[in-house]
Amino acid sequence: MHTMLVLGGYGFFGTRIAAGLVGNSNVRVLIAGRDQAQARGSARAMQLPDDHAIRLDATAADFSASLRTLGVNTVIHTAGPFQGQDYKVASDAIAAGANYIDLADGRRFVAGIGVLDDTARCSGVLVASGASSVPALSSAIVDVYAPAFERLESIRLGIGSGARAPGLATVQGVFGYCGKPFRRLENGAWTDTHGWLDLMRYEFPQPVGRRFLGSCDVPDLEVFPTRYGSVRTVTFHGGFASDIGHLFVWMMAQLVRAGVISSVAPLARPLNRMSRWLEPLISDKGAMFVEMEGVGRDGQAMKRRWCILAAQNHGPYIPCAAAIALAKKLADGVAPHSGARPCVGMLTVEECLAPLKGLDVRVVADPV
Ligand SMILES: NC(=O)c1ccc[n+]([C@@H]2O[C@H](COP(=O)([O-])OP(=O)(O)OC[C@H]3O[C@@H](n4cnc5c(N)ncnc54)[C@H](OP(=O)(O)O)[C@@H]3O)[C@@H](O)[C@H]2O)c1
Repeated sequence: MHTMLVLGGYGFFGTRIAAGLVGNSNVRVLIAGRDQAQARGSARAMQLPDDHAIRLDATAADFSASLRTLGVNTVIHTAGPFQGQDYKVASDAIAAGANYIDLADGRRFVAGIGVLDDTARCSGVLVASGASSVPALSSAIVDVYAPAFERLESIRLGIGSGARAPGLATVQGVFGYCGKPFRRLENGAWTDTHGWLDLMRYEFPQPVGRRFLGSCDVPDLEVFPTRYGSVRTVTFHGGFASDIGHLFVWMMAQLVRAGVISSVAPLARPLNRMSRWLEPLISDKGAMFVEMEGVGRDGQAMKRRWCILAAQNHGPYIPCAAAIALAKKLADGVAPHSGARPCVGMLTVEECLAPLKGLDVRVVADPV
């Protein structure tokens, strides 16, 4: 039995990840967080015994000792926001001899995880950061198309979400950089852009259609220019299902940029709650795109697009799938070699999508 502890196991994504692992005959799932009652409620909903619900605070000094006592083989860390978080959870997992997978979307967090590489190797464990839509799935997609290019010059990515509001940690993370400057590679130069500005209208395949998107600070902006050496442009845009909601966030970003307000982060909780009330009024469809441009093997300009579309509010399962897939590999003893690195090159697109079987999710992609 491989014991997986899902930290934040009753959170928005943690619940879905735990549910995706329950039922695997070689996996024992523990649901952990700071609230015992919520952990128990979530465990019971998954028909797990009460002793699989664990009250655990990741910031506690004895967190590593607790992992050892519980016999944890792999920690799945979903207790964001990761922006500004240190590597305590990963370090404690290594010290406890456990593998570590996280859902991080914090750019510096994911790009810097290599500082733990030596310790992770010495302990013979895997530490994988960003086992989610970005950069695990996004890089797996680029890995498929990259060999078809003579020179891959630009990678543009984006996600237009559906109505189902994610958890507080997600909203706090993305609102943290709203209106704040960050760098991205554009036409070969590192250029400033601002969170949720750089407004664009993007045409997803039907039935998602046109959505407003704004620039987001994700790990890919840092990781891809190194991984795909020839690229001169890497951008990421995100958007909300409601046009009005998106334009509201865009306006708040303008106010932060102009110095009228210092941050949108304090609005994360009330806006998150409000978006739950509004859910029935908003599209249940969401999508992700990866656009790659460059020069083909025939010397001609080449462009490829890969999209995944979700309906019935099944979109939130997509960011969970890579973590589930990697966790299963660890349980099956076929995981990548030990060490600490961003979750790129560890999973194929098929592996990232396998946990989505049976959901209202489909891929619309150009041939390679
Ligand atoms: N890379 C990607 O593509 C991607 C995509 C989607 C989401 N994400 C990330 O996934 C993360 C999770 O998002 P979410 O929407 O699921 O958030 P959420 O619903 O707020 O869940 C966070 C969970 O962590 C727990 N938690 C918080 N602090 C803790 C602590 N100190 N010790 C133990 N547990 C703690 C919370 O419970 P208690 O507060 O009760 O302890 C809660 O269960 C976010 O950071 C988001 O950015 C990444």
